[in-house]
Amino acid sequence: MRAHVAEGSVLRLEQLTKRFGDRAALDKISFSVNSGEYVSLLGPSGSGKTVLLRAIAGFEAPEEGRVSIVGEDVTRKPPHLRGIGFVFQNFALFPHLSVFDNVAFGLRNGGDKRTESDTRRRTLEMLDLVGLNGLETRGVHQISGGQKQRVALARTLVIKPKLVLLDEPLGALDANLRMRMRVELRRIRERLGIPFLHVTGSESEALAMGDRLIVLDRGAISQFGPPGEVYEHPANPNVAKFLNCYNVFDGSVQGDAFVTNHGPIPLARRVASSTPAYAVRYDRLTTRADAGAGLSAAYIASEYLGSAIMHFFETPDGKVVELEHHLSNGPPDAYEAGRTYRLSWRPEDGIAFV
Ligand SMILES: Nc1ncnc2c1ncn2[C@@H]1O[C@H](COP(=O)(O)OP(=O)(O)OP(=O)(O)O)[C@@H](O)[C@H]1O
Ligand SMILES: [Mg+2]
Repeated sequence: MRAHVAEGSVLRLEQLTKRFGDRAALDKISFSVNSGEYVSLLGPSGSGKTVLLRAIAGFEAPEEGRVSIVGEDVTRKPPHLRGIGFVFQNFALFPHLSVFDNVAFGLRNGGDKRTESDTRRRTLEMLDLVGLNGLETRGVHQISGGQKQRVALARTLVIKPKLVLLDEPLGALDANLRMRMRVELRRIRERLGIPFLHVTGSESEALAMGDRLIVLDRGAISQFGPPGEVYEHPANPNVAKFLNCYNVFDGSVQGDAFVTNHGPIPLARRVASSTPAYAVRYDRLTTRADAGAGLSAAYIASEYLGSAIMHFFETPDGKVVELEHHLSNGPPDAYEAGRTYRLSWRPEDGIAFV
């Protein structure tokens, strides 16, 4: 695995290892985040995303490795001296304080001496930035979930952190609000130039928000790169499975073909991997003409997704295969339940991990 460490970065991790008992929750993690960069962190549940953010913020002491912020080694520093802002999923606001006082808290209780009028000016500026003007005097029990989210964000940003860590802060919001918060986060990032490291359970969110994407798997980095690169060129079968847009088949290479339980598939793109598998995106499959590579499967059901329809098929040995039809390409085909179809794709659209 190539290390992702650059000079002059805002955050830099070198060989960071955190163990609980004899299990490594983080296993020699190295990467860096540059000034102004938005990095999304994705990975299955239990892969170490929260432990990683906690170790960066200083709430977990790593057994090995180093955390540096703007060139300074902070591995042994307590959280409040690291200059990092964080919003965790269960963002705890102070229930007895108003919106204004929640946001002003860090300014009043931080290391710097400042006048109350300066605190007031900066707090109002921040409330304006996150779109909460007019709600200053409300109690935090008198505002909505999305508004609480913004208070948590404003409270984090007001102290001008060098880096912001977000642990699924949009998870509790409805789809509409999530979308608005995404736009807001991007705007804030552009205005303030602060780098963000954002854990998200949503692949589409990671795609939309991140300049770069980290895929974490069992405490190690599976892949780190621009979203388009990760989606088009997943580094291994686990990344492909996790992205939720690839059909991934088990099997092995025999001569010029990748042989699965469903028959041989001609090989075009090969990627070196410790586990063999074959991956093809849902939206590359067709039943209209034989595109060169393919398999046969029985139609089960379809799901309407708004801008696309997902059709589900099943091979004789029970593997579900997904075909995504984008409605911008015209009306979907009608399939008959239980009937077997030939699903095919161009050989160059498949990735053989060998
Ligand atoms: N304090 C702890 N003691 C022991 N094990 C822990 C502790 N905290 C986390 N772990 C373990 O470390 C691993 C990584 O946990 P972590 O919370 O980082 O997962 P995650 O990627 O954030 O998952 P999720 O998406 O479910 O939030 C898990 O196996 C978890 O059980
Ligand atoms: Mg977590």
